[in-house]
Amino acid sequence: MKQFRILLWGLVAFAVAGLTWFTLSQTAPGSSGGFSTDFDLVDTRGNPVDGNALRGRPHLIFFGFTHCPEVCPTTLFEVTGWYNELGKDGDLLDAYFISVDPERDTAELLENYVANFDPRIKALTGSVEEIEKATKAYHVFYKKVPLDDGDYTVDHTASVFLMKADGSFKGTISYQENSEIALEKVRNLLKS
Ligand code: NI
Repeated sequence: MKQFRILLWGLVAFAVAGLTWFTLSQTAPGSSGGFSTDFDLVDTRGNPVDGNALRGRPHLIFFGFTHCPEVCPTTLFEVTGWYNELGKDGDLLDAYFISVDPERDTAELLENYVANFDPRIKALTGSVEEIEKATKAYHVFYKKVPLDDGDYTVDHTASVFLMKADGSFKGTISYQENSEIALEKVRNLLKS
């Protein structure tokens, strides 16, 4: 009986050690709050922007692509509306539009595209591999879908992520969420 107990405690200790290792391996290195910063992107001028560079100020993150027929332009138009409502307070908020179509979204194309919206929205792209890492970091879904004409579109997560200055997750704004509720969420993010 005593030996059985020792064996049981041994198993418990083994399980605890295993769980600890698993937890540590999930949170380190280069991540906090479950969001990895292990990806290297570039802005529309070719300047490197890694996962850590997104931090430091409250920020919005949205994944999309310039050929997007509806969801992306609608969302970027809404983000522009929030910036208009925030006025000068909006200068404390960063917003990143990260391409899920890096093969077509060149820096030049992205720059021309985001010029249609509030200038505080910054577009980012990167290699296919780094975009894959960035989408994984934010648990974002995206998938190339072939079109009849031989072209393709990209299905993608349509939520806007609200991120605190330290890079921790504050919440999301759904596609076409009520504009007053959305704005309230952005204001709360700025207060946090
Ligand atoms: Ni889109």
